[in-house]
Amino acid sequence: MAKSEQELPEGFRQLRTQVAGHTFEESNAEAVGLLQDSKAGCVLKPLGKPECGERELRFYESLAAAAASGDNDLALLRDHVPRFYGPLKLVVNRRERSFLRLEDLTRGMRQPCVMDVKMGKRTWDPASSPNKRKLEEAKYVLCKQKLGLCLPGFQVYLPNEEHPKETTILRHGKDYGKSLNVEGFKQTMALFFNASTSDSKSRRAGTEVLLNEVLRQLQEILAWFHRQRLLHFYASSLLICYDYSRLGNPPTSQSLLNGHRLNEDDPATWVRVRMIDFAHVYPAEQALPDENYMFGLQSLIEVVQSILHR
Ligand SMILES: Nc1ncnc2c1ncn2[C@@H]1O[C@H](COP(=O)(O)OP(=O)(O)OP(=O)(O)O)[C@@H](O)[C@H]1O
Ligand SMILES: [Mg+2]
Repeated sequence: MAKSEQELPEGFRQLRTQVAGHTFEESNAEAVGLLQDSKAGCVLKPLGKPECGERELRFYESLAAAAASGDNDLALLRDHVPRFYGPLKLVVNRRERSFLRLEDLTRGMRQPCVMDVKMGKRTWDPASSPNKRKLEEAKYVLCKQKLGLCLPGFQVYLPNEEHPKETTILRHGKDYGKSLNVEGFKQTMALFFNASTSDSKSRRAGTEVLLNEVLRQLQEILAWFHRQRLLHFYASSLLICYDYSRLGNPPTSQSLLNGHRLNEDDPATWVRVRMIDFAHVYPAEQALPDENYMFGLQSLIEVVQSILHR
């Protein structure tokens, strides 16, 4: 089945910025990826295998209930995940499927750069069979075991080398990620943040704003992990999104000095770092902190800092 032949419900299209995970497949009408409703600014994530889909749905529902029940740690997590608009059933390729309606983290971005970073040295959950555990341990070994991070996919807009006003788009999937060692991972992060292609002065300034904002959002997530003792996240990702079109025109230092920082100048409007993929979230064993996730997050922060300060 050609991509264009997927039978999608009216008003939805395939999420073109999907960089990892389960996707539509040309020859398999059963394989469904994320859909986008760009008018509503949301995406639809198909529920995975029954136990995974239910776990993710329960996770989002528990966050929604947390604010009402006064569960503070869970309620605070809502700032770091896509907004949740409830479950929904839709007919795709003539079969009814269940979806989660989530905030589209790329909404409003003209040239969305998106990276999926999977967190933790351990990416198998407590219910995994010995075989699943072995499979997971054999994946992405080169950087996963050292950094507690791996790279299932990304897309980035880069200035075209010959015509810097024009852009090219670079996309890589999991095979690329699996080939990376620690050094390769760091170089790829620099490439993703347009820190190795500083062609113009204003874009260099934009990259600095970008890196500082990514760091700020990562530190907030880390602060949440330091206080919480509720949940452990396995095979979960951070999705880092930014709008390349905003790199060339960061707020002027004059507008910042005058205190006229407009809302649209706030980098949080074009840089979003959020936790995604909660198919393997479990209650924290013995109410311990999630050291596995925090190790990966700490090393991600160090990688971003090293790009900023080099
Ligand atoms: N809220 C979102 N906004 C924008 N893009 C998203 C969002 N959620 C997911 N994506 C895109 O879809 C990709 C896959 O998402 P996710 O990891 O949740 O699915 P998956 O790996 O197929 O899930 P599962 O492991 O539950 O089967 C991400 O890498 C990202 O590109
Ligand atoms: Mg995923």
